[in-house]
Amino acid sequence: MKQNGTTLVVGGTGKTGRRVIERLQLRGLPYRVGSRSAQPAFDWEDEKTWSSALKGVSQAYVTYYPDVCVPGALEKVRSFFDLAVRDGVKRLVFLSGRGEVEAEQAEEALKASGADWSILRCSFFSQNFSETFFLEPILAGEVALPVRPVEEPFVDVDDIADVAVTALTQPGHTGKLYELTGPRALTFGDAIDEIARATGRSIQFVTITPEEYRAGMLQAQVPTEVIDLVLYLFSTVLDGRNTPVADGVQRALGRPPRDFSDYAKRTAATGVWGK
Ligand SMILES: NC(=O)c1ccc[n+]([C@@H]2O[C@H](COP(=O)([O-])OP(=O)(O)OC[C@H]3O[C@@H](n4cnc5c(N)ncnc54)[C@H](OP(=O)(O)O)[C@@H]3O)[C@@H](O)[C@H]2O)c1
Repeated sequence: MKQNGTTLVVGGTGKTGRRVIERLQLRGLPYRVGSRSAQPAFDWEDEKTWSSALKGVSQAYVTYYPDVCVPGALEKVRSFFDLAVRDGVKRLVFLSGRGEVEAEQAEEALKASGADWSILRCSFFSQNFSETFFLEPILAGEVALPVRPVEEPFVDVDDIADVAVTALTQPGHTGKLYELTGPRALTFGDAIDEIARATGRSIQFVTITPEEYRAGMLQAQVPTEVIDLVLYLFSTVLDGRNTPVADGVQRALGRPPRDFSDYAKRTAATGVWGK
């Protein structure tokens, strides 16, 4: 192990952070969860909470919430990186997003912080279909999205966690930017078809307009900032710019990334999508 102090995992109860913690636990390495529900609490919206979360920490895995592209996020992550370095954190591994100008600005802030850095620049997560956005529509049997028929190389968050823990615990990853994607690109319709096959259920995929999407989400009382974020991702980021697959998982881990069908089968077996 490169460093043996405590690892702060910001977003440690989220999709990637939870898995990073599981892997640190398996290795018997000390960690601290950074989230609003942790003790001490860490809140991106309350800078006063940051120092206590950073106390005694030598390295951190940093995920922002809800997305580095929301207004004010860049300033917050920059301030956090700078404070972390002032407080003695040596190594920062940052979860970034592919195809987002704001994410690349956050990456530059990280590089300028003076920390030993690694960047995980990720495509759209496979687990969005089972742990967030799309779970309810899948359970309801119809997924309606304002998305073009673009292909996206969905990345498995277990691969992200494997790369994060490797970068945190093994030498040779400082100053490395890993673009993390799955091994093939598929449309959202293809992804839903794979999930339908894996579950044996009938699940329809329907394309709707952004206006129809907004109206439906407002009716479901989804907060407007979340609706704006999803519409931004679907209209701007998911325009085909991220379709090419990247080799970050292979470069970081020396093995190929997990395929979407592996994710679909594994996840169907948990029963989360019903029978
Ligand atoms: N989802 C994707 O497909 C995708 C793709 C590429 C990049 N990314 C990037 O990944 C990052 C995380 O996104 P995600 O969707 O995977 O989320 P996530 O990690 O699943 O988010 C939930 C985590 O954030 C914590 N959290 C929520 N609000 C917080 C706050 N105000 N202060 C501190 N912690 C807070 C939650 O814990 P508490 O509720 O306890 O606070 C929980 O640990 C984003 O920056 C996004 O840009 C996501």
